[in-house]
Amino acid sequence: MITDKPGLIEAVRDRFAHVDACPFEGPRVFFENAGGALRLKSVVETSALYASYPDNQGRPNVASQTLMRAIDQGKADMRLFLNAPSGVVFVGESGTEVLFRLVRNAATGAKPGGVMLRSTLEHPALGSSMTHWAKQTGRGLIEVAHDDATGVVDVAAYKAALTPDVRVASIIHTSPVTGKATDVKAIAAAIRAVAPEALIIVDGIQHACHGPVDVAGYDIDGYALSPYKMFSRHGYGVGWASDRLTATDHEQIIGNGPQSWELGTRDAGSYATFSDVVAYFDWLGGQFSPSDDRRERLEAAGAAIHAEEAKLEHWLIAGTGNLRGLAEMPGVHLIAGDGVAGREGVVSLTLDGWDTRALVEFLGARGIRTHIRKADNYSGNVLKPLGLPDCLRVSFCHYNTEGEVAKFLGAMEEAIARG
Ligand SMILES: Cc1ncc(COP(=O)(O)O)c(C=O)c1O
Repeated sequence: MITDKPGLIEAVRDRFAHVDACPFEGPRVFFENAGGALRLKSVVETSALYASYPDNQGRPNVASQTLMRAIDQGKADMRLFLNAPSGVVFVGESGTEVLFRLVRNAATGAKPGGVMLRSTLEHPALGSSMTHWAKQTGRGLIEVAHDDATGVVDVAAYKAALTPDVRVASIIHTSPVTGKATDVKAIAAAIRAVAPEALIIVDGIQHACHGPVDVAGYDIDGYALSPYKMFSRHGYGVGWASDRLTATDHEQIIGNGPQSWELGTRDAGSYATFSDVVAYFDWLGGQFSPSDDRRERLEAAGAAIHAEEAKLEHWLIAGTGNLRGLAEMPGVHLIAGDGVAGREGVVSLTLDGWDTRALVEFLGARGIRTHIRKADNYSGNVLKPLGLPDCLRVSFCHYNTEGEVAKFLGAMEEAIARG
């Protein structure tokens, strides 16, 4: 665990900008990481540097060659982070755009006919693209229902819905509303067992900063990341497409080659900032693993992050010191139950007698940043079946601390006392 190593949590926090104070409102605890995580200071510096370069790629001058080397390094780092030695990595406009592109090309590139299969747990970036492209390609759409009580969709639910004619299937890695992670590997294996040629697209956006990604181990065809949710910045999304998906007749400028997925001039700074993120994971992993192998160090970082966040989840739910946890607080209802297993960086809840927006503001006035998720087109898939108009989402990362959890729990007690 990070906090078991003297001085490490301080060194971790020191690498992030605005870690304990908002530049606009002053000191605050940041529990809105699922809306966008803290930025690495290195990312901020790299972004400014690359924004300052006027050169374009593909020229013989040193600046141009330097940009191209940064792109190559960024791609190598993306592969390493994803554990994706095969296939193609590319950058798009956002996580949503990358998911739409992967699904669109899978749907139009797959053998005609058959059906597409998605789950009701999905964020609309994945779910809407699956629904849209099933309609556009004249295919039926199978919707696998998630379990309201556990806040997740399991392999048994997929198995019950599978048919051999599934052409494209989608899986959300972790829900940004319930915080629960699916078993991507087991679900993909179940899909392959029934529909071996299905193209499988995975939304890794909420998962990526919480644990290792192992694309090679999942046997899938597409994976998407949102760098602003993993310590980089807005302005780009990262995609990976398998060799199988790349071999379909996917969209590309004619003549750019069969391996090409990028559309338009690339922002070298986006690749360079992804390298900063991977360098951070590498540094963190190096505190836990003496390995010379970078991927092993990234996995060690993932394991350390997982252990640290499990502690944070435990403190939030079961309490810390003399403060009781959310599970014991009267009037608090936790979405997806009070278990820690399978949870990645999110605890969502309602509090009896409180309008959620008022609760967000109440906590905000006490220096705690949280967020309201409404039963709209983004979170309605989870909240409507529960009969909830909205919920409070508390979302955290490994750099959050027990002291910050205690501050939040204290403020919740105050809210309960006010009724
Ligand atoms: C699981 C998941 N998928 C997709 C998205 C959309 O990502 P982006 O904002 O990069 O388009 C989000 C954003 O909240 C998300 O949490």
